[in-house]
Amino acid sequence: LKVTWDVDAAEKGGYEHFMLKEIYEQPKAVADTLTGRLSDDNRAVLPELDWALGMARGIDRIHVVACGTAYHAGMVGRQILERLTRIPVEVEVASEYRYRDPIYTDHTLVLVISQSGETADTLAALREAKARGARVVAVTNVVGSSVAREADDVIITWAGPEIAVASTKAYTTQLVALYLFACYLAQLRGAADPATIEEVLAGLRDLPDAVSKVLDTAPAMKAFAQQFARKESAFFIGRGLDYVAALEGALKLKEISYIHAEAYAAGELKHGTLALIAEGVPVIALATQDHLYEKTVSNIKEVKARDAHVLALTWTGDEEMASVADEVLYLPRVSPWLAPAVVAVPLQLLAYYAAVERGNDVDKPRNLAKSVTVE
Ligand code: AGP
Repeated sequence: LKVTWDVDAAEKGGYEHFMLKEIYEQPKAVADTLTGRLSDDNRAVLPELDWALGMARGIDRIHVVACGTAYHAGMVGRQILERLTRIPVEVEVASEYRYRDPIYTDHTLVLVISQSGETADTLAALREAKARGARVVAVTNVVGSSVAREADDVIITWAGPEIAVASTKAYTTQLVALYLFACYLAQLRGAADPATIEEVLAGLRDLPDAVSKVLDTAPAMKAFAQQFARKESAFFIGRGLDYVAALEGALKLKEISYIHAEAYAAGELKHGTLALIAEGVPVIALATQDHLYEKTVSNIKEVKARDAHVLALTWTGDEEMASVADEVLYLPRVSPWLAPAVVAVPLQLLAYYAAVERGNDVDKPRNLAKSVTVE
């Protein structure tokens, strides 16, 4: 048994679970995914795409298709792609997309995102898009996967093998690939918003360091998780990119701690959800989007007025949130555009420690598989 444990421990790099190891591998995974893709003259470099100017300029619609966590990465990708390229982008889960008879123009680009590159619904959507004449770009973590082989172009994330069912480093590196792709496409087409491209590229340079710094929130997230692990439900709220980060945080918590967690666009609370907020209900509120900060604060006050217990995640240096929320977690400052890549880490740690506290099989949660290769 001792030998088995040592072998197992060696595979986990001394961490108790693969998930924790993979959470801590994120600074390196992000750095590796950036290597060779940021030029000295501040351009996103994706030689594997090697696109003709005409093709890039011809694109007039983008469909982003993925499942689960990859879908959440796609929701972030949609906002940065639309901002930088001004091309209309729609995002949909693959299992819905493939049966919806989507509308393709003569120059539709389909972006599929899949860590494993073998997810049945995502692969089927890729095949449907190609059959309909769309150009397909894949973002995947597995070289030689079905998605990688069948797409027209591939952007590989260099996260390394991800063993835990709950995706962590694959997600943050998918975000990096999507930020790079949006900058690449915008620079090819003639940037509609050069200042934001500069901001994103500068933020990407600092991202490995920011992800490394935010791992220091682990003790605080462990303490919060231990006090809320026995709760039967939890709410994640946010606006804009914080809403996407809330969706991903809720999925992490659900799939490994089995706590029923829901993510809501903070502005939607009054349209129904508020009825569920009662004394002691845990609400994790994300407030990284500066232009939406005041509205998010008012949403926190809304749930506080119903005696919710609020943990707010905001930037270091914030002086208002401590008087609004019950607890505040301070994040190392990055561009709000890159916030999803930073705020994901404490939410991964929250899910991890809640699952450990509940005695769950963290790396292999019940009912789930690492890659859903069947419909
Ligand atoms: C994420 O934590 C889940 N394990 C799951 O939602 C996963 O993201 C989804 O199944 C998509 O997998 P893929 O990226 O390999 O296609």
